[in-house]
Amino acid sequence: MFEVANKVHDETRQGEAYSPFINDTNTYVRKFYIESYGCQMNFSDSEIVASILNTEGFGATRNFEEADLIFLNTCSIREKAEQTVRKRLTEFKKLKHKNPSLLVGVLGCMAERLKSKFLEEEKLVDLVIGPDAYRSLPGLITEADSGQKGVNVLLSRDETYSDIAPVRLNSNGITAFVSIMRGCNNMCSFCVVPFTRGRERSRDAASIIDECQNLFNAGYKEITLLGQNVDSYYYTPEDGSSTITFAMLLEMAARVSPDLRIRFSTSHPKDITDDVLYTMARYENICNYIHLPLQSGSTRVLQLMNRNYTQEWYMAKVDRIREIIPDCGISSDIIAGFCTETEQDHKDTLQVMEYSTYDMSYMFFYSERPGTLAQRRYKDDVPEEVKKQRLQEIVQLQNRLSQQSNQRDIGKTFKVLIEGDSKKSSQDWMGRSSQNKVIVFPKNDYLFQPGNYVCVKVTSCTQATLLGEIVN
Ligand code: SAH
Ligand code: SF4
Ligand code: F3S
Repeated sequence: MFEVANKVHDETRQGEAYSPFINDTNTYVRKFYIESYGCQMNFSDSEIVASILNTEGFGATRNFEEADLIFLNTCSIREKAEQTVRKRLTEFKKLKHKNPSLLVGVLGCMAERLKSKFLEEEKLVDLVIGPDAYRSLPGLITEADSGQKGVNVLLSRDETYSDIAPVRLNSNGITAFVSIMRGCNNMCSFCVVPFTRGRERSRDAASIIDECQNLFNAGYKEITLLGQNVDSYYYTPEDGSSTITFAMLLEMAARVSPDLRIRFSTSHPKDITDDVLYTMARYENICNYIHLPLQSGSTRVLQLMNRNYTQEWYMAKVDRIREIIPDCGISSDIIAGFCTETEQDHKDTLQVMEYSTYDMSYMFFYSERPGTLAQRRYKDDVPEEVKKQRLQEIVQLQNRLSQQSNQRDIGKTFKVLIEGDSKKSSQDWMGRSSQNKVIVFPKNDYLFQPGNYVCVKVTSCTQATLLGEIVN
């Protein structure tokens, strides 16, 4: 997802090709290949795209060399994310020479940001489709087949794809993501998302719960509710019944089954309510883990970032979380070297990190994005070496905090959902605690399988992983 991430629990899969476990591709006339970049929302959107293409008779393939259609679902969050995509497009150029009927399409945030400019800049692209326009894919493909270039980057005020059942791609069959809203109304000054994803809108609660129920019926045991700012979820059913808030939605999801774990991402510190925290505390199957991006620990910088909270507010929020959910895991996003950031501002960031004792963080240096408030209003005036130096200090501090957090868990027992084999050994299982920490432990007598819950006692740790043994 991000170029500089603390590897601790980095579950992101940047640039990983989707390898769908879907219908036998031989039954389809044409095959598509899709590669996703950026945040989980994009990965989730690729599953909607796959569903739309499936109904139109296109089958997915893991092998781009046999594809008739290649899609890149792109991210614009930092300049580097866009460079990666441009590089990838030049690689696909060779294939296009070999197979002139091959179509290459750009989806997602970069498509939205660059619009038809993409077709002029990157002569290799046949289709450019923004995040709210995926329903028009079939029509645009037909146009592109006849040699026209297809573009649809219209943003919508109400599209949520709520009636489309996503085709689970690259799934482990145990954990899944469910989008609950789209867009963002926050206008953080550094951020391109409000421009690429448009206005915030919440998806019909009933369709969200149906999707959770269907996933549970299909054997899934963990669902992550997704949105750029889940705490502002707000849905008023058309039948006039009362409005559903995020806390209410969480409760509805938790009630699908006590055996279904619920997670969510991302929370905005200004919007997460006591109601949400108390709901988390009330339901054992709502995981005790909150991703609460700090961005900066300096109130002055936070103001320039338009984050709408202060250093004190943030720290009080951390206190509140720990008061209501004492064993809650907390993680963060941090930006080093935002416009005008001084050494003192940077120290404030380190101080709040230390105070919050994050289990892990995603850490970046500031990358100016065209069209954002910060780009229009402020000078990107922190020299690159300084940004990198500060980022390094932030990463070092986080590494220590992660190590300490893991050490505190030694001797404790956690309920772990087994997700599959550990990366390193087929003799070991890998799973997660409620706090979202990865735990690796021997399979023992193979009494368990992925999707089972087991109690695991932590016996040792690395900076990235807890190691333990089953104590059921
Ligand atoms: N909606 C989420 C974040 C989405 S973007 C939230 O508000 O927390 C994920 C992260 O990318 C952000 O939290 C921020 O830390 C980082 N980010 C966004 N724009 C950036 C930029 N221009 N430069 C560097 N990092 C950025
Ligand atoms: Fe971007 Fe801020 Fe919205 Fe997150 S909340 S997506 S950082 S504008
Ligand atoms: Fe990137 Fe768009 Fe997500 S810019 S981080 S893919 S919302």
